[in-house]
Amino acid sequence: MAFTLPELPYARDALEPHMSRETLEFHYGKHHKTYVDTANKLIAGTEFENTTLDEAVKKASGKLFNNVAQIWNHNFFWEGLTPSQTAPGKKLADALVKQFGGIDDFKKLMTETAIGTFGSGWAWLVKKPDGTLAVSSTSNAGNPLTGGDKPLLTVDVWEHAYYIDYRNARATYLEHYWALVNWAFVEKNLG
Ligand SMILES: [Fe+2]
Repeated sequence: MAFTLPELPYARDALEPHMSRETLEFHYGKHHKTYVDTANKLIAGTEFENTTLDEAVKKASGKLFNNVAQIWNHNFFWEGLTPSQTAPGKKLADALVKQFGGIDDFKKLMTETAIGTFGSGWAWLVKKPDGTLAVSSTSNAGNPLTGGDKPLLTVDVWEHAYYIDYRNARATYLEHYWALVNWAFVEKNLG
């Protein structure tokens, strides 16, 4: 069972002006696609030919982990964005207020965590096994599933995510990111 590149749930130019068509063409069409193609080459003839993507992320190591986790992370990142944003629902808003003091406090913490991630990586909102929420950061292909946390939202802070639109300005990219966050997706993940 080969891994596949999911269709984006919106058009390539739908996230403009915050994220350009050119960024999606490269980030989704080339970077994300390359992780899928590379993972499929690596699993040929191995036990991973018949595992789901989630299982592969939890079990793989080395180069295969890097590629399957990057597939997972990008699938999740794209689903967490929307061109037609709505406000957080009551259940999610209440959870963010309870954990972080407010929605803006959560956004500030996640922004600081994203900006503070050294080099390539991801910032996450996760639900921990005890049900509490937390903001965390992973390096390179790192994914919270391997530590037992459930991802609710992520932001890609690899340079390929923002260099076309904002050059080296990760903070500016983060400002625009918040205009695209799909709060309904986050609330669905909250469960
Ligand atoms: Fe990326």
